[in-house]
Amino acid sequence: MSEGTNLMSHYKFEVPEIVFGRGMLSQVGCCARRLGGRKIFLVSDQGLFEAGWVDQVMKSLLQAGLEFVYFDQVSINPKDHEVEEGAREYLRHGADVIVGLGGGSAMDAAKGIAILSANGGRIRDFEGTDRIVRPLPPMVLCPTTCGTGSDVSQFAIISDTEKRCKLTIMSRCVAPNISLTDPDTLKTLPEEYICTTATDALSHALEAFFSIAATTLTDVHAVKAIRLLKGNLVEAVHEQTPDAMENLSRASLHAGMAFSNSLLGIVHALAHPIGGFYNANHGSINAVLLPEVIRYDLPVVTEKLPELAWGLGCKGADDEKVVAEVVQGEVDALLEACGAPRSLRSLGVQREDLPKLARNALEDACLITSPRQADFNDLLGILEKAF
Ligand SMILES: [Fe+2]
Repeated sequence: MSEGTNLMSHYKFEVPEIVFGRGMLSQVGCCARRLGGRKIFLVSDQGLFEAGWVDQVMKSLLQAGLEFVYFDQVSINPKDHEVEEGAREYLRHGADVIVGLGGGSAMDAAKGIAILSANGGRIRDFEGTDRIVRPLPPMVLCPTTCGTGSDVSQFAIISDTEKRCKLTIMSRCVAPNISLTDPDTLKTLPEEYICTTATDALSHALEAFFSIAATTLTDVHAVKAIRLLKGNLVEAVHEQTPDAMENLSRASLHAGMAFSNSLLGIVHALAHPIGGFYNANHGSINAVLLPEVIRYDLPVVTEKLPELAWGLGCKGADDEKVVAEVVQGEVDALLEACGAPRSLRSLGVQREDLPKLARNALEDACLITSPRQADFNDLLGILEKAF
C-alpha cells in the first residue's frame, strides 16, 4: 500500500485547544477566565455531583474569581426541552461562558444550550450541517467518560422527543474553545460505562479510519486510538488500573479528533435512530453494531487493512483475505473480552421496529461518509444480523 492511498487530497483539520492530565480539573477556572468569563454557566449531572467532581469544578471557578450558575437538568440522550430550558436559564442569569462536565450527554447539552442562547429558536431548527448563524458563547468541555469525543468534536446530538429520534447538528461552531481532560475523573465511572464508552471510542476510531473523508491527519489519530484501546481496554475494564484508564482517556481524545474531521459511518447512522427511539445507551448500541458493520465494510477497504492490522497489533499477513479475517477476529475478540453487549434484542430493540430504524438511518448525515454506500436493504440486513 502506498502512503495516502484513498485519502482526501484537500482538507482542513479542526481541533480545540487541548488540556490533558491528571488533576487538571483544577484548571477549569483559569481556562474559563482566559475566555473572558465572569459568570459561568456550569452544565453537569447528578451522578457527577455525587461523585464530587462538580464540587471540584466549582472550587476552581471560585479560585479564579468567577461567579457561576449550576444547571443539572440533563438526562441520558439529552432532550430538546432540556437544552431549551438550559438556554432560558443561561440568558436569565446573564452568563457569558459555558463549562460542560460529564459524558456525551452533559457536553452535548452544553452545546445545545450554547446554540440556543445565541441564536434563539428551537433546537431542531439547527439539525444538519452549518445551520448556526450567530457565534456561540465560549465553551470549556471536560469529558468524564472514555468515549464520547464531544469535547473535541464538531457534532452535537440532541433527542427530538416529539419525533423520538436524534438530531445531528454539525458545525465548526460547536467544537468548544477548550477541551480539558482529567483522567482522574474515570475513577468514579461505573464499570459498565468503562466498556460502553470505550467501545464508542473504538467505533469512532474505526469509522473515522474507514470514512471516505479520511485524511493522513485523521488516520494518525484513528490508528493511535485503536492501538491504545487494543492495549488497555481489557485491563481498564477488569482491573481499572490508573495507567490503563488514563490511556482510555487518551484513546477517546485521539478518536474524537479523528471522527470530528473525517466523520463517521453506518454504525453511527444506525445508532442515532436506535438511541433516539429507545433512549438506549449509545456505546452499547455501537458495540453490538460494530462487528456487523465492519463485516459489511471490509470488502471495500482492503487497501487500508494492513495499517489497521498494525494498529490492532496483528502479525503481518500479505493476503488481503487473511488480513480481513484477522482484523475482524481482533475486533470481535476485543469486544468479547471486555464484556460488551452482543445483541440489539438485549438492549430492548423490537424486531418489528427494524424496518423503521433502517429507514430513519437513511436520513442520517453519518451515512454520507460510509466507505460502502448502503441502501435500505443493506441497513436492514445489518440490523437483522445484529438483532
Ligand atoms: Fe459515538
